[in-house]
Amino acid sequence: MDIVQEDKEFWNNVKDWTNPTVQHAKFLDNTPLHKEIYEECQKYNKWTNILSKDFSDELIFNLSVLSGPDSVRDTELDKRRREAHHELQERWKISYNNNWEYYHTVPKEKDFPTVIQYIKDNPQFSNPVLTKLGANEKILVHLHVGEKSQFYYNMAINEPEGSKMAIYPTGIIPYNAGDMYRLYVNNNHAVINGNQDRFHLMLKHKYDGYIVFGHYEFWNKIDEWTDNSQKGVGAEFHDSVSNHEEMYQECVRYQDWIHATTEPNNVSEDLVNITKVGFEDAPNMKWDGDKFVSADGIWPRWFAIPDKDNFPTIYKFLEKNKHQYRLPVISKLGPGATILPHRHIGQTHIPFLYNMCLNFPEGCRFAIYPTGLVPYKAGDIYKLHVHTGVHSVINNSTEDRFHLMLRGIKNV
Ligand SMILES: [Fe+2]
Ligand SMILES: [Fe+2]
Repeated sequence: MDIVQEDKEFWNNVKDWTNPTVQHAKFLDNTPLHKEIYEECQKYNKWTNILSKDFSDELIFNLSVLSGPDSVRDTELDKRRREAHHELQERWKISYNNNWEYYHTVPKEKDFPTVIQYIKDNPQFSNPVLTKLGANEKILVHLHVGEKSQFYYNMAINEPEGSKMAIYPTGIIPYNAGDMYRLYVNNNHAVINGNQDRFHLMLKHKYDGYIVFGHYEFWNKIDEWTDNSQKGVGAEFHDSVSNHEEMYQECVRYQDWIHATTEPNNVSEDLVNITKVGFEDAPNMKWDGDKFVSADGIWPRWFAIPDKDNFPTIYKFLEKNKHQYRLPVISKLGPGATILPHRHIGQTHIPFLYNMCLNFPEGCRFAIYPTGLVPYKAGDIYKLHVHTGVHSVINNSTEDRFHLMLRGIKNV
């Protein structure tokens, strides 16, 4: 079946295949800046046609990293990217009959001050690409092939009448101008435009979720970046409790752990705070001594809310310390498991966590930027600046590792 035929089937059967319980388009937010950006797009006249030879290296680079691994510009790689891009163009020329009113550009301050301002205000985004799809044009059904789950962020600058975009199996994405969606573009998706030029802004999210590539440096270069002289960053020792062994035994006895990838809708409010961070994509990776490699099975990470019946000692401790801690969640990380380097982006109202170690098996390591390795002992509570400091856990031991995560009482 050729791609045009495939595209027809995609749209003809959209009602039949739509399954909104699978979220391959996640709404992030809406920005009112779309009006100014739209004006900037309309004024701009240096767009690069998608079939043209004039694609700048920067444009090819931004397109190639949008949904893929982190990468740096380098001439050798740029050359290969350019070749790959030309191969793609040859295929598009056939599918689109050598005539496709689809344009791209990398927005610059001079022509797109509002776009640049938006990225300054939202520094989690990088590698912007603006697209312009001509009136009544199409983007035929396609998907982006690559390692793991591929996604990027896509903002509608305008939504011409009659324009629609769909992604498998979520269905038609109800875009309004200014809406930003996280699109899982390793699934079939397609666009039919309406009666005017349609502008979208594509962005890479630098720290999103657990799809972290190129973070081997975090552990391999720990000596280079470790700096424990600074206050108010990384890890700060807070307190230590003596009855940690009883607390640990309560965790060992407990059976009803909730897996980290459980849909936020299916867990209690207390847990949503933790599970909505984006664990659903968490790959199961182990540390082989100098890099993270895929491991078999599901990610061995679970959570529990300490209640009075199952965790009497922990519960008593929490009751006594109500004045300083709230929203307790116990985390269990299986033997050999890791938590990849990440920061808690998107939780600006909670800039730090308290983290009590209930056991710390030999071979288990925890590090946070810029402090470096944290010398956890059972019972230690550290204040962790998880919002600004990339952190990671490697449990290279034969035991489960249990930690109690606590929020501070004040939303500082
Ligand atoms: Fe696409
Ligand atoms: Fe974390």
